[in-house]
Amino acid sequence: MVRPRARSLPRKDKNPTVAFVSVAFGLLLLTAAYIWLLEPGHGPAAAQPIGGAFVLQQDDGRVVTQRDFRGQYLLIYFGYAHCADVCPMTLSAVADALDILGNKAADLRPIFITIDPQRDTPAIARAYARKFSPRILGLGGTGDQVNAVEKSYRVTSAVMEPAAGNAADYAMNHTAGLFLMGPDGRFLAPLSGLQGGPALAQQLAEYLPGKAASTATTTP
Ligand code: NI
Repeated sequence: MVRPRARSLPRKDKNPTVAFVSVAFGLLLLTAAYIWLLEPGHGPAAAQPIGGAFVLQQDDGRVVTQRDFRGQYLLIYFGYAHCADVCPMTLSAVADALDILGNKAADLRPIFITIDPQRDTPAIARAYARKFSPRILGLGGTGDQVNAVEKSYRVTSAVMEPAAGNAADYAMNHTAGLFLMGPDGRFLAPLSGLQGGPALAQQLAEYLPGKAASTATTTP
């Protein structure tokens, strides 16, 4: 037997005023939520501070964690040894900045963390970083260890299309900023090496101790 087609539901009489007030109230709530999220200290990005605990490996296989660097300023950079442009530029700038800062950078430890654990063993990461300066410590780790540290610094990286015929010949897109961390392990500032060593040295000098005491401690 053929069923009768479902009748369209009876339309409710709409009160235009009620409808308008509901829409307006809804928009108000959305706007308020949006403004709240934009404010510093709110929203998903603020849920977790940048940085934190990590477990990586040094070239000799020794496990290295953030605890090994307590009391030091860290300048952390994520990159990979096959990088053709941004990584060499940034690490050169770091090396130049160290030279410029001299003793003022005595408590500063630059760390290069590979985002390409597939190709960069801890030994390769170490050797690569040393090419720029023996003071830059290169670290690697397992894929999981690298993913975890990338996540805590909100670094993104992605393998790009490999060159034809060679699956191991790939470039990577990655976050290329420097992270300056304080001696207590807290994130101090995002820095960049792309303006060269002198500019980076100037930025670092603002955070490192040993700055001209007359301006640093003057109170009005
Ligand atoms: Ni790079």
